[in-house]
Amino acid sequence: MKIENLLSKLKANGKSAINISKITEKHLENNKITKYEPEDFKLEVTTAWSFPRRGNWATHRGDYRGNWAPEIPRNLILRYSGKGDVVLDPFVGSGTTLIECKLLDRKGFGIDINPEAIKLAKKRLEFPRLHPEKQELKIGDARDLSFLKQNSIDLICAHPPYADAIQYTQGIDGDLSFIKNVEEFESEMCKVAKESLRVLKPGKYCAVLIGDIRRQKRVIPVGFKVMQSFLDAGFILKEIIIKQQHNMTTTGLWRNQSEKYNFLLLAHEYLFVFEKPDK
Ligand SMILES: C[S@@+](CC[C@H](N)C(=O)[O-])C[C@H]1O[C@@H](n2cnc3c(N)ncnc32)[C@H](O)[C@@H]1O
Repeated sequence: MKIENLLSKLKANGKSAINISKITEKHLENNKITKYEPEDFKLEVTTAWSFPRRGNWATHRGDYRGNWAPEIPRNLILRYSGKGDVVLDPFVGSGTTLIECKLLDRKGFGIDINPEAIKLAKKRLEFPRLHPEKQELKIGDARDLSFLKQNSIDLICAHPPYADAIQYTQGIDGDLSFIKNVEEFESEMCKVAKESLRVLKPGKYCAVLIGDIRRQKRVIPVGFKVMQSFLDAGFILKEIIIKQQHNMTTTGLWRNQSEKYNFLLLAHEYLFVFEKPDK
C-alpha cells in the first residue's frame, strides 16, 4: 500500500469522528448543554493560533469529522463583524459557525452539499436564546451562491475540504472532497472565490481555513494554491494565520512512518483573511 493511502486510511479511522454517512439518532439527540459560553476565551492577537482544548460549550461536540474548533469562528465573528450582521459559511458542516452566530447575535447563513450535515447542523441549532437572530441552513453548492444578492453579506467564514484529504459524503455530485487532481480542485475553488467576492459587501472580510496534503512523501501546497485563487478573484490579503493542528497522533505508527519514510507529519493549517476592495 502506498504511504499516502496508508496515512489517509489511518486518518479516516479516527476514533471519535462521525462518519457523516452514518449519522445516527444518538448524534442528533446529543444536544445537552452544560454551559453556553467559553469560560476563559480571549480574542487572539497574534498570527499563530492554537486551541489544544477544543471548546465544548453550547451544542459544540467536535464529533463531525473535519470540523473546526469553535474558537476559530468566534474569533473571526468578534473581530470582523458586529451584532445583527449577516455571516455566511458556505461549507457549514455540523454548523459550528452558525452556533457561534446564534450565541453572538449575528444572522447566520450556512450551506453544505451534504443533506446529512445540514440535518445535523439544524439539530445543533436547537437551543434557546432570548432574542435569537435568524439562522438559515440550506443544501447547496459553494460554487453557486446565485440565491444570494450581490454585496449582501458582512462576513464569510469558509472551511472547505482540503482537496481529497477527508471525504465527506459517499460521492454526492458536487462534493469537492472527491477531487483528487489538485489543479482541478484549485479551479473549482476559483469559482467559490468569485462567488464569495460577489456576495460580500465591499470593505468586508472573507476568512478561509485550509491545509496542505502530502503525496508520494512530498507536500502539495493546497493552502497557497487556494490563497492564490482568492487573490486572482480580486480579494486583497489581510492576514495569514498559522493554526496548529492537535487532532493528529505523533506517536506509535505515525512516528514510525515519519522516520521510516523520512517525511514530517503535517501539523498546521492556514487561516487566510481576505478583504473585498472598497471600490
Ligand atoms: C471541512 S468540512 C467543514 C466543517 C465545519 N467547519 C464544521 O465545523 O463542522 C467541509 C464541508 O464542505 C462540504 N462540501 C464539500 N463540497 C461542497 C460544496 N461544493 N459546496 C458546499 N459544501 C461542500 C462537506 O460536506 C463538508 O461538510
